[in-house]
Amino acid sequence: MGGVVIYLSSGLCLLFLLFVIKLLNKIWWTPIRIQSQMRSQGIKGPSYKFFHGNNKEIINMKNEMIMSSSPMELSHQIFPITEPHIYSWIKLYGTNFLMWHGSQAELVVAEPKLIKEIMNNNRSFPKREPREYLKLLGNGLVTTRGEKWLKKRKLAVNAFHAENLKNMIPDMIASVDMMLERWRDYEGKEIDAYREIKVLTSETISRTAFGSCYLEGENIFNMLTKMAYIVAKKKYKLEIPGIGKLLKTNDDIESDKLERDIRDSIIKVVKKRESNVLTGEAESYGNDLLGILMRAYHSADETQKISLDDLIDECKTFYVAGTDTTASLLSWTIFLLAIHSDWQDKARKEVLELLGQQNPSADNISRLNIVGMIINETLRLYPPFVVFVREVKKEVKLGDLIVPANVDVTIPVIAVHHDPQIWGEDFHLYKPERFAQGVPKATSNNMAAFLPFGLGPRTCVGFNFTIIEAKIALSMILRRYKFTLSPNYVHSPVPRITLCPQHGIQVMLRALFINKLWWNPIWTQSQMRSQGIKGPSYKFIHGNTKEIINMTNEIMSSPMELTHQIFPRVYPHVYSWIKLYGTNFLMWNGLQPQLVVAEPDLIKEILNDKDRAYPKREPTNFIKKFLGDGLVTTQGEKWFKQRKLANHAFHVETLKVLTSEIISRTAFGSSYLEEENIFNMLTKLAFFISKNEYKVRIPLIGKLVKTRDNTKSDKVEQDIQDSVIKIVENREKNVITGEVDSYGDDLLGALMMAYHDVDVNQKISLDDLIDECKTFYVAAQETMASVLSWTVLLLTTHNNWQDKARKEVQELFGQQSPNAGNI
Ligand SMILES: *[C@@H]1O[C@H](CO)[C@@H](O)[C@H](O)[C@H]1NC(C)=O
Ligand SMILES: *[C@@H]1O[C@H](CO)[C@@H](O)[C@H](O)[C@H]1NC(C)=O
Ligand SMILES: *[C@@H]1O[C@H](CO)[C@@H](O)[C@H](O)[C@H]1NC(C)=O
Ligand SMILES: *[C@@H]1O[C@H](CO)[C@@H](O)[C@H](O)[C@H]1NC(C)=O
Ligand SMILES: *[C@@H]1O[C@H](CO)[C@@H](O)[C@H](O)[C@H]1NC(C)=O
Repeated sequence: MGGVVIYLSSGLCLLFLLFVIKLLNKIWWTPIRIQSQMRSQGIKGPSYKFFHGNNKEIINMKNEMIMSSSPMELSHQIFPITEPHIYSWIKLYGTNFLMWHGSQAELVVAEPKLIKEIMNNNRSFPKREPREYLKLLGNGLVTTRGEKWLKKRKLAVNAFHAENLKNMIPDMIASVDMMLERWRDYEGKEIDAYREIKVLTSETISRTAFGSCYLEGENIFNMLTKMAYIVAKKKYKLEIPGIGKLLKTNDDIESDKLERDIRDSIIKVVKKRESNVLTGEAESYGNDLLGILMRAYHSADETQKISLDDLIDECKTFYVAGTDTTASLLSWTIFLLAIHSDWQDKARKEVLELLGQQNPSADNISRLNIVGMIINETLRLYPPFVVFVREVKKEVKLGDLIVPANVDVTIPVIAVHHDPQIWGEDFHLYKPERFAQGVPKATSNNMAAFLPFGLGPRTCVGFNFTIIEAKIALSMILRRYKFTLSPNYVHSPVPRITLCPQHGIQVMLRALFINKLWWNPIWTQSQMRSQGIKGPSYKFIHGNTKEIINMTNEIMSSPMELTHQIFPRVYPHVYSWIKLYGTNFLMWNGLQPQLVVAEPDLIKEILNDKDRAYPKREPTNFIKKFLGDGLVTTQGEKWFKQRKLANHAFHVETLKVLTSEIISRTAFGSSYLEEENIFNMLTKLAFFISKNEYKVRIPLIGKLVKTRDNTKSDKVEQDIQDSVIKIVENREKNVITGEVDSYGDDLLGALMMAYHDVDVNQKISLDDLIDECKTFYVAAQETMASVLSWTVLLLTTHNNWQDKARKEVQELFGQQSPNAGNI
């Protein structure tokens, strides 16, 4: 019995001893061996510390950077900020050195010649077995290796094939359009470009890769963002081998749950598409990324087939990689252009010259050279991926070095991109002109000196996708907006999955003049069209004025027959467009959209104007001269006051007196001859109005440059004013000399009483008085003249009605004058 106990316990002791030896080997002897092996070859570095390696120092340095109370100044020297440990160790130990992530050896290689060797040799330096990113990306394209990787890489290359990319462009444009529509609310204000760009890139990847819109995928994005946060937090936390599986931290529990939820959400998207195919709603899985993956998943050929897990992991990879990379690139580009307005102007000029107001297409995107330089300089200073990691499984030769097995190789992209030996002493300055002659010239043919998307067989497969999306978004933003950095911006680039601005990128947005001349009309038009209101298309600056003038000229050039179908003649454009587009349609008087409404129900709604939503239109320049700010054209409070006066003047009682006299006498107490001059002048002004009705005025210009018609009409306006004042003064004199004892009961009298009123609420100004006189001269005379003339014409051609009317008049009045009672 005792023997058994001894036997068992010594067995246990032996097992324990073996475990300790194995552990010691892993966390002590092997690191020490690797370290001395590398040192003997001249590769120095911070010493390995038992179990922790250099993690404590790394965390300390990183925290120091984050905690340092003063915010970072606005410098592009971000290498010491983002990777402080690599920065200071390169300075201490040289371009290539050895450091320790726990007990894992990491050879940092920043020498371009060696980098090229590593990146081109995927056999000896495969992508590192994923650790912390596994839950986030799954076993997707970014993280898998070997055979499996090749199969997936083929699928992805297929999805991002040039032809497929071309088909994605309309979706990209639609996504940017959606973003710019949101931006209309921020004109003249601050906007967080980073937040906006993240929504944009998510929207784009949802549409292009998964054929669904952002809102549907939003849930997945939110979960992935949470997951990315946990991953970044855990990066330098050590796990004692074996323990991690037994004890779960809160983060572990949460990320497990997130992982399950993400999986469920993606399966839902997949199932939806499957059922669309099954029910016959769609006839194939589609040509986007999801479609290609689903075809592979359902493939009968084993060499093509992928598992459901593969499919899900791949989707995760594309959600994350597809959005984060582009978001990082675009945000930093906007940041840099906000500071460097000279390059912003250059880029805008190139975009406007190449594209004008057209949307970008595959052909012209590749010709955006300056934008390409700007993007590359952004990628150099703020690379989306600050490091790449490879691993060495078997001892391998690298340059003159022998690298032992089980060493990770870290390529600090940011160190290479910020190396003064490669880029010169001005490496920290934003100088897109470096890339004027392309990458080889910029790097002196040093291929591995510029590797924003990696190099060799594992170059980022979404590289072309990212560049195309960035170019489209930039060109569409640049031609509508100018932006400058907001004073609220805090500079703090942090490496998460990609290098991102910790506090966002706040810029001040200013709409370009072109928005008034082009984008706003286009937007209004599409908004109306989406509601079924059609109409002739808006043309740059002119709107439809050319067509309107043309139609009017054409119809006026030939005499009309004696028919009452006058609509096609007086408004030929409205006539033909109602026929073409329906009862209600949208047309453009220059930049001014005009909704033509001929539907009686809607007309009633507009004219009754219960909510005061349809005030009288602000008069144009010429009409203002013609009518002044009189009753017909004013609005609001002022209108109310004047309307009261006019109601009084045209009150039924007053009208009884009016009817027997012509307007100038009744309203102004003077005879026609006295005012002939005023009528003539008003007729002249009316002529200027109709002549200029469809002339397009460019905003602001009208105030500076006067046309000949403007000068002439200014003079006529002044003359009319003088004439009216003369009549007013005349009557005032009559009252003062006592010739008459009041201003009179006519309209002029009522206006003059109001002008002299001591009560401020009733009082009107001299200008108001003059404008009101003008309005009544014109409105009364013109309206009456029009009605009377056309009645005479119609009675001339319809003798039967002329006879009927004559009979009625003779029966009522006999030979007497009409009076208020019987009229
Ligand atoms: C390395 O890349 C080549 C060429 O792209 C490919 O054929 C090979 O399978 C890759 N090897 C590994 C281990 O990924
Ligand atoms: C851009 O490309 C499209 C089609 O590829 C072409 O129709 C358009 O004219 C081009 N625009 C310019 C300004 O070259
Ligand atoms: C920018 O970099 C990419 C990738 O290296 C390259 O293909 C492109 O030609 C570069 N463009 C310019 C203008 O340097
Ligand atoms: C990107 O596009 C260019 C030109 O169309 C092509 O040569 C290159 O292979 C593409 N790169 C990737 C990673 O698909
Ligand atoms: C004006 O009308 C003529 C004759 O119908 C036509 O040839 C011309 O193209 C029109 N011009 C415009 C700008 O619509």
